[in-house]
Amino acid sequence: MSDYQYDNQTVKGFIVSSIFWGVVGIVIGLLISIQMWKPETNFAPYFTFGRLRAVHTNGLAFGLGVGAIFGLSYYIIMRLAKRPLLFPKLARFQLYLFNVGILLAAVSLLMGQTQSLEYAELEWPIDLAIVILWVMFAINVFGTIIKRKEEQMYISLWYIIATTIAVAVLYIVNNLSIPAGLTKSYHLFAGVNSANVEWWYGHNAVGFVFTTPILAMFYYFLPKSTGIPIYSHRLSIIAFWSLVFAYLWTGAHHLVYTPLPDWIQTLGIVFTIFLIAPSWGSVVNGYYTVGTDWSKMNTNYLTKFFIMGITFYGLQTVQGPTQGLRIVSQLIHYTDWVPGHVHMGTMGWVTMTTAASIYYVIPKIYHTEIYSEKVANIHFWLVLIGQLIFSITMWITGIQQGALWKATNADGSLKYTFIETLTKNYPYWQLRTVGGLIFTVGMLFFIYNIYMTIRKGSLAEAKA
Ligand code: HEM
Ligand code: HEM
Repeated sequence: MSDYQYDNQTVKGFIVSSIFWGVVGIVIGLLISIQMWKPETNFAPYFTFGRLRAVHTNGLAFGLGVGAIFGLSYYIIMRLAKRPLLFPKLARFQLYLFNVGILLAAVSLLMGQTQSLEYAELEWPIDLAIVILWVMFAINVFGTIIKRKEEQMYISLWYIIATTIAVAVLYIVNNLSIPAGLTKSYHLFAGVNSANVEWWYGHNAVGFVFTTPILAMFYYFLPKSTGIPIYSHRLSIIAFWSLVFAYLWTGAHHLVYTPLPDWIQTLGIVFTIFLIAPSWGSVVNGYYTVGTDWSKMNTNYLTKFFIMGITFYGLQTVQGPTQGLRIVSQLIHYTDWVPGHVHMGTMGWVTMTTAASIYYVIPKIYHTEIYSEKVANIHFWLVLIGQLIFSITMWITGIQQGALWKATNADGSLKYTFIETLTKNYPYWQLRTVGGLIFTVGMLFFIYNIYMTIRKGSLAEAKA
């Protein structure tokens, strides 16, 4: 089958767009990390922390994350279905709409337009565009899989299917709102119900944007890049079904000690603990796969990314369930511990696995070799060090924050004022900026490497 039939153009388009929005999101991440300890860098009104934070989270989850998910899922589906996309022109149009949508989202957030729901800030006209985008994606995913030429369905396809269905259901339900003009709307649900639906959505955004599609990449690109078949297909399938079953019940762990009925919180916590098992099913599967030849960690630069990525996923999925317990939640909830947890997952698991998948795909579709393995290794170490500094400082300051908030005098009054507990974070926040800067430099090495690889491939093609 020729490459043209595989429609690599759309895959390339999504990858390049994802990297572009990733740069925007990461640079804004750096800026907001500075704003937290240097308030004068809040340039009112458009570039204040309140607005930029949402541009950071949306830019990275939906720009970097979803852009890569669309592109790499198409790459994987075509190869596993052994046929081109059913509707290549639709996929191309989806690429354009994706970029217009992210641009509009960023501008609207800078203008201060928000539904005030975390990870669902965008107002209803943009929500509609996002639903159309996912419908386009779903048509190609299901159409291509139904018309596949390979009967067997490898595990990555299951993860992509789960992502497509779950995101559609979650996004539509949580964004049901009553418009009050073009740029303002009100959540259809009120009070505790609103919070419950929002965190059912919020946690599953983590599950079906930062977990299932990334696992689809991991399961596909780890065996491809190492040449070692996945250790156990049976384990991958068992882990898949138990993961998707459990994820959807866990959102209430974000609302521990709130007015949400106790039994809903307990139900959420039970499923949260259960999640360790299916998550570790994939971690173990990854370790055992490379375990047949650990020397790959030394000889194959991509293995390092995938194995460290799944290791952070493994740590994240032990830390996450622990955080859901009431005893732990009452100490760390609302503190900086949570961004520490978040960035171990996003900077460690999501970006490492996505970057490694892109390193695999770009040389393949440009018929060349990676520009420099040395540069890839520098990239690896910088993002690893940057992420560790980020996460570890946030865990320390988070525990300190929780402890100071709880400290009381003999008469029961609070020992520290809120502002005292806040300013004690400053040194840690400064260190976080250093970690973020190291991570950003690492990502620049990645972009340089990808750019040079594309150039090398295009020049060779032009000469041929
Ligand atoms: C240079 C790298 C980065 C820096 C400096 C950075 C910085 C920050 C800062 C300062 C916050 C706000 C924390 C708070 O409100 O207390 C934040 C939140 C967040 N960031 Fe990043 N970030 C970076 C990379 C990333 C990446 C790569 C992703 C995703 C792929 C990401 C996703 C998020 C998310 C989801 C939140 C919300 C966390 C929460 O509500 O607890 N960040 N980031
Ligand atoms: C077994 C898997 C996981 C469980 C049970 C879990 C559990 C939790 C819990 C309980 C919280 C709430 C902390 C609090 O505010 O008190 C949380 C926050 C968060 N987790 Fe995880 N986590 C898991 C895996 C992941 C992964 C793989 C990521 C991917 C990057 C992730 C990203 C996040 C984000 C973005 C938040 C912040 C939400 C916010 O804005 O408040 N988690 N997680």
